[in-house]
Amino acid sequence: GSNGALTFDVEKNPNAVPATEREALLQNPGFGKVFTDHMVTIRYSENTGWHGWKIEPRRPLALDPATLVFHYALEIFEGMKAYRLPDGGATLFRPDANARRFRNSAERLGMAQMPEDLFVESCRALVRFDRDWIPSSEGASLYLRPFMIGSEVALGMKPSSEFIFCAIASPVASYFKGGASALTLWASENFTRAAPGGTGAAKCGGNYAASLAAQAEGLREGCDQVVFLDAVERRWVEELGGMNIFFVFDDGSLQTPPLTGTILPGITRDSLITLGRDMGLTVREEPYGMDQWQKDAESGRLREAFACGTAAVVAPIGKVKGRQHSFTIGDGNAGLIAGRLKAALTDIQFGRAPDQHSWLDRL
Ligand code: PLP
Ligand code: COI
Repeated sequence: GSNGALTFDVEKNPNAVPATEREALLQNPGFGKVFTDHMVTIRYSENTGWHGWKIEPRRPLALDPATLVFHYALEIFEGMKAYRLPDGGATLFRPDANARRFRNSAERLGMAQMPEDLFVESCRALVRFDRDWIPSSEGASLYLRPFMIGSEVALGMKPSSEFIFCAIASPVASYFKGGASALTLWASENFTRAAPGGTGAAKCGGNYAASLAAQAEGLREGCDQVVFLDAVERRWVEELGGMNIFFVFDDGSLQTPPLTGTILPGITRDSLITLGRDMGLTVREEPYGMDQWQKDAESGRLREAFACGTAAVVAPIGKVKGRQHSFTIGDGNAGLIAGRLKAALTDIQFGRAPDQHSWLDRL
């Protein structure tokens, strides 16, 4: 809960969406297309530090065309969800982990590092204020998108002396159209996402821009998502454009690529490692090669693969294609272990199972 130390200036949205219209929108929100009535904004300047904490109507940000973010992509963001609980209350899931990652992203991009309690309190404040926007339909939640931009007006290539932090919220259902069917991945050989020493472990907008040509190629090839390989050997499986990846073997063990600096340290990934071990499964954080993946899929040693992330939750992978690869995993459908891990995770998030690891932040 709140320590009550932070007070936000509040400006209520005079044009808030009427309740009946809101309820209709919440029935079928899709992903990232519907937004709540308010947003949080906080400013930073070198001279005054963090200031001007506001809850205000969601509206356009007015920015000078020479603002640093437009030219040098000085932007970081987070993704987290608020869940409706069976008793009608609401909760965030591990917001402290998002706050820590946000600081790490800021550090990598030479941006101001927001204190973790200020980050968490901003998210709590927005959800409390717009709590009527948390859907209560099965599997739906309120997705929070906190982000920060370099807002100094300057064209010189230098760190920004001013920043704007903003958090918006969007009621969401499934990230994928058509829900739960297994994904077909495109193994990108032309493009990589992140190189050693680069920004792969930071959640910065530039990483996502850099992955879009590969995603377009994947879509042209009839695939749903891209799986990126390491930039040096083009051999090791790293992650998807917006999800981490897990493999499930015939001995019941799980494997996921290690955090070597070129992939995002996913909070879902970390949670699933813990829940897998809770179930008595062996979980390895070890590199997995593309050729080995195909070999293991063909021999049946590999039983399942799945992607995971806040937006996607747990998404089974059915097929993999590429210039040099084409194979099916298991029978091409959702696997058993993926289903059990997804249930274990979402049962905690939605308050249907005990919160053994103290991951919930009740509002
Ligand atoms: N990898 C990338 C590139 C992502 O954008 C995301 C989504 O946030 C993830 C992995 C999964 O991270 P998390 O589980 O913290 O949402
Ligand atoms: C998330 O899962 O929160 C992400 O940021 C991934 C994005 C592609 C929606």
